[in-house]
Amino acid sequence: MQQSVRLAPSILSADFAQLGAEVRAIDSAGADYIHVDVMDGHFVPNITIGSSVVKSLRGCSRKVFDVHLMISPVDLFISDFAAAGADIITVHPEAGPHLHRTVQLIKASGKKAGVALNPASPVSLVENLISDIDLVLVMSVNPGFGGQAFIPSSLDKIRALRKMIDASGRNIDLEVDGGIDANTARQAVEAGADVLVAGTASFKGGPGQYALNLKQLRG
Ligand code: DX5
Ligand code: ZN
Repeated sequence: MQQSVRLAPSILSADFAQLGAEVRAIDSAGADYIHVDVMDGHFVPNITIGSSVVKSLRGCSRKVFDVHLMISPVDLFISDFAAAGADIITVHPEAGPHLHRTVQLIKASGKKAGVALNPASPVSLVENLISDIDLVLVMSVNPGFGGQAFIPSSLDKIRALRKMIDASGRNIDLEVDGGIDANTARQAVEAGADVLVAGTASFKGGPGQYALNLKQLRG
């Protein structure tokens, strides 16, 4: 069942020179999840932060830490991000040879497990994992950078996953990530998404704007 819409601002678009203050500000502006994009310069053509930064930020917010791992290999690092305080750990099927094993590792660490689907990745990749996972992340841009344009065909993928999730009878978050603004947020929710990741649209204008930015995303 589609759950109430939750906002997951991506701190990729925050001011990295004051990340702790940025997390506090977006938390008090009404964020539901804090979305953390971890990139390794190998799986995606950009480098961001590692588990020690997640650990430092953990003290700045009690909201759900939604950690999106764009790293390969990934299995080696699951326990570090779990110990750092992630609540949800999301991985890409292409990041390792055995997705089911990776999901098992995340669950064994006591965390919720998510699977991210790139624009070219079919929904069938999660079909046989639907009893095991807690979140499906539809990438509506190619992973690696904030500020890219929403890929419209992502809406069909969201619709297909909404059917798959509803048929499972399980509470699985259907999250969309990339190019989300007030307009694409509405389209994604209409298609069945219930968690919206937004970097640029959440952090534009600085802390004084965050509450308004999030209000506009909620529609
Ligand atoms: C891209 C990241 C996104 C990114 C979204 O690889 O996964 O979370 O921060 O940024 P916007 O909302 O600016 O498209
Ligand atoms: Zn992300």
